[in-house]
Amino acid sequence: MTIDLIVKHANLPDGRTNIDIACADGLIVAVEPGIEAEARQVIDAKGHLVSPPFVDPHFHMDATLSLGTPRMNVSGTLLEGIALWGELKPVQSIDDIISRALKYSDLAVSMGIGAIRSHVDICDDELKGVAALLEVRKQVAPYLDLQLVAFPQDGVLRDPTAMDNLLRALDMGVDVVGGIPHFERTMRDGAQSVKMLCEIAADRGLLVDMHCDESDDPLSRHVETLASETTRLGMQGRVTGSHLTSMHSMDNYYVSKLIPLMAEANLHAIPNPLINIMLQGRHDTYPKRRGQTRVPELKAAGITIGFGSDCVMDPWYSLGRADMLDVAHMGLHAGQLSSRAEMAWCFEAVTKNSAAIMQLDNYGLKKGNAANMMLLHATDPIEAIRLRATRLAVIRHGEIIAETPPNIAQLKLANRPKQVDPASYAPIPAKAKP
Ligand code: FE2
Repeated sequence: MTIDLIVKHANLPDGRTNIDIACADGLIVAVEPGIEAEARQVIDAKGHLVSPPFVDPHFHMDATLSLGTPRMNVSGTLLEGIALWGELKPVQSIDDIISRALKYSDLAVSMGIGAIRSHVDICDDELKGVAALLEVRKQVAPYLDLQLVAFPQDGVLRDPTAMDNLLRALDMGVDVVGGIPHFERTMRDGAQSVKMLCEIAADRGLLVDMHCDESDDPLSRHVETLASETTRLGMQGRVTGSHLTSMHSMDNYYVSKLIPLMAEANLHAIPNPLINIMLQGRHDTYPKRRGQTRVPELKAAGITIGFGSDCVMDPWYSLGRADMLDVAHMGLHAGQLSSRAEMAWCFEAVTKNSAAIMQLDNYGLKKGNAANMMLLHATDPIEAIRLRATRLAVIRHGEIIAETPPNIAQLKLANRPKQVDPASYAPIPAKAKP
């Protein structure tokens, strides 16, 4: 067998150190110390972290990089963002969306993202976003897994043609059924939309991922319906609630009933920390709510949680740079996930947990899986989050597809080292107890 690539002396996310990874024909063929085989290409990781790719489980590829067109969001609220997006939709072309999405994909790949679940707005009778992102999904397939969610931004019941459009989008090849129950006209309509959309997914054998209760209203309780419909239809493990911000504001007693219902349904959760901390609590004076859903409590109940980025330079969020470590960093802070175990878990929330939610095949540094990985300029997952570590190399199917030089500063001080390497500031490991 010809080995195409060996990555040597890697630290892995599970804590193993000094591991070599051999790749051939696009697959991982060995993960063990001291591989001696000849290879076409060798990368010395020098004790830095090699991880499977980042996975962004919640994004809006049809809106990304549209910041400022046709205008800026002045109030900064979710609702003005939705109104602004409504102004942009009729004037943008399929080519505009394709060009922005491809440009974003370039950035995402350079930042180590190997898979994205993108919602695509189907509340446009021409389905321009759907046509554009289906084309993008095809074009980026060699280097990025793009999963599409049929997302009725204006409400599947509130918008008179949304249901028809959603079914057409699924017929065209969109992968997942979306929804936005808290944006329907009434709580009853919201619950009805959840029921109808879950039934469509059950009939077609599809996954579900709904924007659910993206609100500070403690009485926005559509996640309860999402969990009960999931159980009723036998869709356990195939349904995700995105955002779930109202859970931040709910009464604790009610949540003590809700979380077990979510666990019973094996519902997955996707908070979007950057966007939640930016958009929630906007009607508060002080104290001002953070809005991130109850991550530690959901995690303790065994619910699979992935952190999503949601937006980069679009009507809802002016910032962002496709950095899932920024996302993990914010999720960690907003959730006060500060123990060593919790911080390491935040790295899993932007890698393997999100891959599990998207049901990605062949993900992970294991023999037989796709040879997709990245080399980070940090020694372990916590250090990667602390440093928002540079992606020194991004590998797809055993080939290097992006490289970034390490950010090592040259220091011009007398009697001090000549260079500052951020990755050399890792904490000293605690001494093993006798
Ligand atoms: Fe979203």
